[in-house]
Amino acid sequence: MGDMEVTIKEGEARAEIEIWSYVLGYVKIAVVKCAVELGYLTPMPLSELATALRCEPSRLHRIMRFMVHYRIFKQEHINHHTVGFSLTLLSPLLIKGGEKSMAAFILLVSSRTWLAPWHSLSVRVLETGNNISPFEVANGKDLWSYAEANPDFSELFNNAMGCDARLTVQATIEGCPEVFDGVESLIDVGGGNGTALSLLVKAFPWIQGINFDLPHVVAVAAKSDSIENVGGDMFMSIPNADAAFLMWVLHDWDDEECIKILKKCREAIPEDKGKVIIVEAVLEEDKEGDELGAVGLMLDMAMMAITNKGKERTLKEWSYVLQQSGFTRFNVKPIRAVKSVIEAYP
Ligand SMILES: C[S@@+](CC[C@H](N)C(=O)[O-])C[C@H]1O[C@@H](n2cnc3c(N)ncnc32)[C@H](O)[C@@H]1O
Repeated sequence: MGDMEVTIKEGEARAEIEIWSYVLGYVKIAVVKCAVELGYLTPMPLSELATALRCEPSRLHRIMRFMVHYRIFKQEHINHHTVGFSLTLLSPLLIKGGEKSMAAFILLVSSRTWLAPWHSLSVRVLETGNNISPFEVANGKDLWSYAEANPDFSELFNNAMGCDARLTVQATIEGCPEVFDGVESLIDVGGGNGTALSLLVKAFPWIQGINFDLPHVVAVAAKSDSIENVGGDMFMSIPNADAAFLMWVLHDWDDEECIKILKKCREAIPEDKGKVIIVEAVLEEDKEGDELGAVGLMLDMAMMAITNKGKERTLKEWSYVLQQSGFTRFNVKPIRAVKSVIEAYP
């Protein structure tokens, strides 16, 4: 065999291994969902863990073996006869509770309501596909109407957003605290259950916050002295503040809708010293091997499956919607997260 043929053969062999990550792509999330549901206690030997979690030991062993392989837990010999499991850096992100936990997000994306839309993604892409989102095809209503009609799903959704908010706001506070200098009042537009705003007012105690979202969402949001919860529709009007904060809101909408929301934000902030702080992914095209970039592309697929017309945007696309909404300048600050911070000025 010549060199060329060997290279092709090796490439084919690699492809035949890689295909399995697609064939069984859902297994990782299914196992992690299972682990979140079972709950995990402090590190202990398998037999004690099985008793504590009321699990059948050999099946629990297989689940734990899988998670050890993916570094979710570490296997340790407690003595010659007994193995136990200890935590890794990934464990706190997957275990329920705790500041870094993404467990509620895992429970949302592995729910039937969230998974069913993916079955009609291809219909959405077809030229003949109508404008009903895969989410609506599967669940009978668009995401926001469905959440309003199903309080349990709404809670699942808001808790999931809260998980991500904790990580992203922490990265914002560490990465670019100067964004909040001189901001005395801040309105979180589409602020959900208020997780992001409560972390921001804690970090920057001079800020008076308004958590603004649909009435059924703010009705169950946390209450505090430095945050006022206001229910409304951001397409109609937004209460005034020095700055408007929009995290993971604009990606739910198409350009025309984004421009409407951004124009309402512009009306809500002072012309001279106001600003809009957008926390969203900025897609970079053709950047290979970039792990966060790959997450951005997956989120873009989620926008297609779950929202009516939402999408993730490149820098050029952000520039377009900001200009069309009347903002004269903006800057982008990368943070230690999938999202970046965009400051836009009237
Ligand atoms: C993807 S979530 C993001 C929540 C939060 N900003 C975060 O990042 O954790 C989008 C939010 O927009 C809210 N929303 C949707 N339509 C809205 C409207 N017309 N007016 C105000 N909020 C709206 C939803 O209820 C939801 O809380």
